[in-house]
Amino acid sequence: MYATLQLLHSYWAYLVFIILAVATINALYKFFGNKEFTAFDFRISLFTLIVSHIQLIIGIILFFAADYISIVKESGMGVVMKNADLRDKIIEHPTTMIIAIALITIGYSKHKKKLTSKPKFKMLAMFFTLAFILVIAKIPWQTWLA
Ligand code: HEM
Repeated sequence: MYATLQLLHSYWAYLVFIILAVATINALYKFFGNKEFTAFDFRISLFTLIVSHIQLIIGIILFFAADYISIVKESGMGVVMKNADLRDKIIEHPTTMIIAIALITIGYSKHKKKLTSKPKFKMLAMFFTLAFILVIAKIPWQTWLA
């Protein structure tokens, strides 16, 4: 059960990474290039929102399946914080990724409220770039690509 979830979370991360990269570069390019907002731009941002929310759900299930709560209860928070591996898996990775997905959600909902192309791309470019930086920073690259 845990291994399947881990595999799913690991493979779904490729989709999250690729779609977020494409949506971010697209928004930045069209913001600075003063392009018109089209149905493609709406679809790619919506797809980014959906794909990242699915990863959030898989991540939360994985977190509880790993029973990290028991580790915290048994060892105590001090031990967890002093162990780089545990701190990353229990605190840093989940927290940073939740913030990243919140930024994607805020960027998506703010762009929808804007009526013209430039402000729409501005919201997407700002929030998706910040989210992408956080995702890059907290993907466990060594274990993921090993
Ligand atoms: C944009 C969102 C996210 C991305 C791109 C992402 C990506 C990844 C990747 C690539 C791994 C390593 C998998 C491997 O070693 O093969 C991982 C591990 C993990 N993720 Fe996420 N994650 C995200 C969100 C979350 C969230 C929101 C949670 C929990 C609330 C979470 C919990 C975990 C846990 C517990 C592991 C460790 C699994 C293990 O090594 O046993 N992730 N994540």
